[in-house]
Amino acid sequence: MALTDGDKAAVVNLWSKISGQTEAIGNEALQRLFTGFPQTKTYFKHYDLSPNSAQVRAHGARVLGAVGEATKYLDNLSEGLSKLSDLHAYNLRVDPENFKLLSHCFLVVLAVHFPAEFTPQVQAAWDKYLVAISTVLTSKYR
Ligand code: HEM
Repeated sequence: MALTDGDKAAVVNLWSKISGQTEAIGNEALQRLFTGFPQTKTYFKHYDLSPNSAQVRAHGARVLGAVGEATKYLDNLSEGLSKLSDLHAYNLRVDPENFKLLSHCFLVVLAVHFPAEFTPQVQAAWDKYLVAISTVLTSKYR
């Protein structure tokens, strides 16, 4: 479902609060992913996956960095995320189902960290945004 102008404003607005803490938020989303859905750990066999792993923290910051960068391309996500789409489809071959799991964890983290801002409308906007990102990152599988 396409993002409305209101959705886009909600995404950009909450991102301005997330952007100061990308490592903490990204790390928590990944920790919840690995704990709640342990099958996702298979993609990270080369990582130290202990609870305070510096590798996971750094990866959380990278993933969140990409989510933030994409807010600049809300009208053209496939162009903005093209390189990342190549990586996930051609190199990593992450099962698309996992994007739903990560998005779910990410929404939970936003709800926990930004309870006042996370209204039903903001949740719906971020849900659509994460679906849109996931759609692009899983669009090149063959
Ligand atoms: C790598 C973003 C979903 C597995 C990356 C990188 C970014 C990224 C920015 C680093 C790229 C680089 O180093 O050039 C995202 C975003 C996602 C997403 C924005 C969805 C919102 C997933 C999912 C999985 C996954 C669902 C699997 C459960 C990986 C793996 C790497 C990677 C295994 C390589 C890590 C490494 O070797 O250090 N992703 N990703 N990604 N991603 Fe994703």
